[in-house]
Amino acid sequence: MFEHLTAQKPDGILMLMQMYREDTRTDKVDLGVGVYKDATGNTPIMRAVKAAEHQLWEAQDTKTYVGLAGAPDFNDAMVNLVLGDAVPRTSVHSVATPGGTGAVRQAFELTRMANPEARVFVSNPTWPNHLSILDYLGMETVLYRYFDDETRGVDFDGMIADLKTAKKGDLILLHGCCHNPTGANLTGPQWDAVIAVLHDTGATPMIDIAYQGFGDGLDADAAGTRKVAAAVPECLIAASCSKNFGIYRERTGILMLIANGTDTGIAQGTLNFLNRQNYSFPPDHGARLVTMILNDDALRADWMAELEEMRLGMLTLREQLAKELETRSGSNRFGFLAEHRGMFSRLGTSSDLVEKMRTDSGIYMVGDSRMNIAGLNAQTVPILAEAIVKAGV
Ligand code: LMR
Repeated sequence: MFEHLTAQKPDGILMLMQMYREDTRTDKVDLGVGVYKDATGNTPIMRAVKAAEHQLWEAQDTKTYVGLAGAPDFNDAMVNLVLGDAVPRTSVHSVATPGGTGAVRQAFELTRMANPEARVFVSNPTWPNHLSILDYLGMETVLYRYFDDETRGVDFDGMIADLKTAKKGDLILLHGCCHNPTGANLTGPQWDAVIAVLHDTGATPMIDIAYQGFGDGLDADAAGTRKVAAAVPECLIAASCSKNFGIYRERTGILMLIANGTDTGIAQGTLNFLNRQNYSFPPDHGARLVTMILNDDALRADWMAELEEMRLGMLTLREQLAKELETRSGSNRFGFLAEHRGMFSRLGTSSDLVEKMRTDSGIYMVGDSRMNIAGLNAQTVPILAEAIVKAGV
């Protein structure tokens, strides 16, 4: 039967990772996959993670199953990290998931179970895997305008106009912060306007928050998510620990569900059921580390300090790049790079020029011109700026 299988479309981001590995040039620059790198190109294990791992190795005396919904102290700690005191803890149901992608997948499946006709509104553009998973699940996708190719900021009027066409029973997917792939984000008043549209349409919001702490700080990055969660009766939140704890391969994430008006046993029971059907118990190792860090004053303080260093480092790189481009191009048309937040910025150029920069200068960015700012360092900023100007972007 397997001879009937057909080739699947390769994932563009993962393909680029492979191409970069195979490129033998020594001066190549990797701005592809969304993985944080320090100035030496290394993706470090964060100090608090290493310390927690050490403590865990000493103290852990069993590897038996934890809970189907994850360890309750992990779920509590993450709900607090993401939502603060925006909503009462008792109104948040949750399951630990394998990474943020696991949470996204469960959220879509839950939506499909609740309403097989649900349309999912996604920003244009969005993380390509959102679209791929929705397509795989056979769910209808509606693109809403998001990125303005001229200003490289948010096309907010277009976004609101498109969101107004949603209706009750639809899902609106929003990026909590550090929009992937563009780096262009909503302001506080813009979040308020989105909430008004949610009220008017009755559509259910889903927030994917994978980069909390990478944009304007831990609380600032969660502000939009908290506003939405506090304002609407129903909400889904998919959060990832991959980036802000640097535990990519541990697969640590959480799906939160606020469903006022739904029987709490049914809401939590359905989340548990989905975990059981898809992978049974969620992974625990990364979740345990995160719990230890968030619940220990010293580890938490060290984690926050290191995360802040990473965030500020990315901001400095953004400013250096914008400045370097201003000098080399003689114009300020790249000023948006310093305004964007998070790991990514969309340069806003054609895939042909992206390819040209790869071929001519060994610059690896995603085909839609998304750059991982953390892939730069003080030495490669001028190389990138030169390649951008030389390619005629
Ligand atoms: C990215 O967007 O590069 C990351 O989220 C990694 C991935 O899995 O695509």
